Amino acid sequence: MTTATAPGKVILFGEHAVVYGRPAIAIPVRQVHAQAQVDDLPGEPPGRILIEAPNVGRQVWLHEAAADDPLALAVRLALEEIQPKPLPAARIRITSTIPVASGLGSGAAVSIALLRALGAHWKKPLTNERVSALAFQVEKLHHGTPSGIDNTVIAFEQPVYFRRGHPGESIRVGSPLDLVVAVSDRPSPTAAAVTQVRERWQADRAAVEALLGSISDLVVEARPALEAAELGTLGALMDQNHALLARLGVSTPALDRLVEAARSAGGAGAKLSGAGLGGNIIAAADPRHLADIELALQRAGAVQTIHLQVGP
Ligand code: PMV
Repeated sequence: MTTATAPGKVILFGEHAVVYGRPAIAIPVRQVHAQAQVDDLPGEPPGRILIEAPNVGRQVWLHEAAADDPLALAVRLALEEIQPKPLPAARIRITSTIPVASGLGSGAAVSIALLRALGAHWKKPLTNERVSALAFQVEKLHHGTPSGIDNTVIAFEQPVYFRRGHPGESIRVGSPLDLVVAVSDRPSPTAAAVTQVRERWQADRAAVEALLGSISDLVVEARPALEAAELGTLGALMDQNHALLARLGVSTPALDRLVEAARSAGGAGAKLSGAGLGGNIIAAADPRHLADIELALQRAGAVQTIHLQVGP
């Protein structure tokens, strides 16, 4: 038996703009994770692979899975990459504590846990670069034009400054910085939000490009502030990023309510994170206010709150 895990992630700054070539910053969230377990299936003919995801009630044989099944695609990519000989029979069991379709990188984390477990089980461990590149292929199933930020931050498990088509640059956060993630009660498949933004961009390219440019400017400003863990600056930039995302059309009254609750309870700043239209929000906070903020977020409708710390 072999197991491997991969963390969740949140985007601190720059979501959506990153799809259009602008930079973004994301961090891993180790409080939640996906896990894959691989066992040999000695009684089965070579090449027979059973994929199980009990959390979502799925059980499918690889040879019967549809071409656009993300779990099956991850296994097929692993087989191509690793080329195990003789072809083994195996059972792969996937579990995850990452809320699905909530902007926490559940899809990429599942792919990465699975690729790592298969690499280890078939004695060809995959590098972070390969795992990230293969998971990116699977991300394309979730929405056609992924930026690649999810697979990058999850594969490397480091805060990352990311631009599409470039290797991620890891960010060293100088001193501990406290963040709270609040998951809203509405899941949001990334594809819907990305498509909505694309339609706006097609309808009024100049206006949307101006918004994306403003988001890009504040991501550039956020990087040194994050390195220096300047809470006040980061909070103000988060507030500005949220306002720009709202103008881009991806916030909702429920997300605005969560953001407002975090600010009123002492947060230095807050914004929606990920695709929007549901999913999660994040707030940066002085540790003295964390308990109040988590309580305020739960009262404002969060179904789950996660406290995490970035930094040394
Ligand atoms: O998977 P999510 O919900 O965190 O969204 C990813 C962020 C987007 O910028 C909206 C899409 C992308 O591919 O970067």
